Amino acid sequence: MSKEQILIIDTDPGVDDALALTMLSNLNNNVDNYSKIIMSSIGGNTSLKNTHQNMLDIISVTKLQHSEILKGSESTLTGEKFVDAEHYHGKNGLTLQLDKNTDSHSNLETYEYLHELLLKNENVEVTLLMLGPLTNLAKSLVSIPETKKIIKSVVIMGGAFYVRGNATKYAEFNIYADPEAANIVFKSGLHIKAIGLDVCDSVIINKEKFYNSQYEFNKSKSVLGKFSNSIIDSFFNYHKDKNEMSLCDPIAVICLFYENLFSYKSKEVSVDTGKLKKGLTVPTQKKGKIDIAVDLNIKKVMNLIDKNLI
Ligand code: RIB
Ligand code: CA
Repeated sequence: MSKEQILIIDTDPGVDDALALTMLSNLNNNVDNYSKIIMSSIGGNTSLKNTHQNMLDIISVTKLQHSEILKGSESTLTGEKFVDAEHYHGKNGLTLQLDKNTDSHSNLETYEYLHELLLKNENVEVTLLMLGPLTNLAKSLVSIPETKKIIKSVVIMGGAFYVRGNATKYAEFNIYADPEAANIVFKSGLHIKAIGLDVCDSVIINKEKFYNSQYEFNKSKSVLGKFSNSIIDSFFNYHKDKNEMSLCDPIAVICLFYENLFSYKSKEVSVDTGKLKKGLTVPTQKKGKIDIAVDLNIKKVMNLIDKNLI
């Protein structure tokens, strides 16, 4: 009997998370149907309180179909307060104000929900799309390692494997925000596709093209299209000095549905948890189970992002 396919989206909205969730609303209806989509928040770009509220508000606007709302970890794996990236994503994590969604969430934290899935029903396969720090997954693996048995695959937006970081010169933000969690996840033996900064810089929103309506989604009159345009417009209004907007999380969404548009190096990866190089992701020479994306079909990936923001 085929196993029930469940997608858990772990997110710290975040302007690029907001675009990623908008795309998912289109993609899962048209490309690859999971029987259940579970939404999970995590701290990162801003506090958990803010990222959780942002996630609820984005779900309300995009009508992203979901079966469950989970609130993730309040703090990092070692109990630290999350750093934030509000300088980039705006105060409270978004550069635009959304109507408040007051939907409630499960009384299970994300890691506990994964345990429940394991304990009550072996006949599921879970795919994880990790768009923020890896705390929730690491907590699940640390407390019940058997959770791995129900995890089919993981796509992570995170890491700077052969390039410079963006949180520091060593580290990409999602890994920097919880390096201990990342180390546990990368060493878990799970089969992971890692979308790092190595493939993020070549697929971006260009300000001039955006305001000259050169993207297909610029012309969209749909709710999703208008939402995409408002996110990007608010971003460029917030950052008068920026001519580009990164699309890290949307690229990870494309990897989830179109993995063959990327090329990978399969390595073992360790994460520096020290002070100086905290969050540095170090691929070993040995072959391993972390498929590090090292190149991508820029034209096709950008085209798919554009088409799924309408
Ligand atoms: O480094 C980029 C990542 O950090 C993205 O997921 C962005 O949303 C932030 O979480
Ligand atoms: Ca994110």
